Amino acid sequence: MSRIAYVRDAGTPGTYTTRHSAAVSVEDRGFLFADGIYEVCELRDGCLVDESRHLDRYEKSLAALRITPPMSRRSLQLVLREVVRRNRVRDGIVYFQITRGAARRDHGFPTPSVAPTLTVFVAPVDVAAREARATQGIAVVTVADERWFRRDIKSVNLLPNVLAKQTAREAGAYEAWLVDADGYVTEGSSTNAWIITPAGTLVTRPLSQDILPGITRSVILETATQLGINVEERKFSVGEALSAAEAFLSSSSAILLPVIRIDENVINKGQPGPVAVRLRAASRANSRISDMQLPDF
Ligand code: PDD
Repeated sequence: MSRIAYVRDAGTPGTYTTRHSAAVSVEDRGFLFADGIYEVCELRDGCLVDESRHLDRYEKSLAALRITPPMSRRSLQLVLREVVRRNRVRDGIVYFQITRGAARRDHGFPTPSVAPTLTVFVAPVDVAAREARATQGIAVVTVADERWFRRDIKSVNLLPNVLAKQTAREAGAYEAWLVDADGYVTEGSSTNAWIITPAGTLVTRPLSQDILPGITRSVILETATQLGINVEERKFSVGEALSAAEAFLSSSSAILLPVIRIDENVINKGQPGPVAVRLRAASRANSRISDMQLPDF
């Protein structure tokens, strides 16, 4: 299962190959400089979830880093479908990454430019484990946000996120909530962060260069509005989170998980809150499932 990956770079015309034999150059700039971007799209029942929003964000990330798209949007959609088809994964994620390509090591962009490197793979998710987490709720720990200042770009420059996630794991928590210099939560190491105030208002940090514009975040915001939930896109502090009625996190792979503990503090008596549970079901129903058969030209 999930054995076939796709690789395309200057030296490899688009190839579907076993993960084991898939390879990129040791001089690939993604590898040397984290000079690349990626996307993670949920795969549900064999279909891509909110594909066009992911592709829009992918194009924005590429433009921000001035990396040329490796192929047309439609060709990429065909490649994503083919990787899904060859792996026969029903529920999981599709990962695709584009780097500036392979060239002699030099910090500046290669001149002349080289072909970008595109890699694609899929990974199954343990649906039962994810549902159990959603039912039981998860713990988060707070850590200082030590990332660069363009977190709106989905770049593969993730070392602070990696270290934060490891801190969470070692503390027995699922996620780390990153905290800015003023004591406000930015987001999780790989998720967006939310609270519900005692008055029932849903709060999440507004879009800016401080956070990733999560696709799941956008669907949850639309869903909350449809459900008539009061929404405020504003910063919230760790202190406000500790006295919140509920808290949760969101991402394409975790979907929406209720937070029942922040550091040593129990939220909502250690139970997933009713608003989070309701939003999880409704936003899932609201996400768009791609038709995997692209029409002919
Ligand atoms: N992470 N914030 C950060 C820092 C993220 O890395 C992610 C996604 C999100 C949520 O975005 P979305 O709803 O579009 O998945 C927020 C992906 C899943 C990952 O790196 O695995």
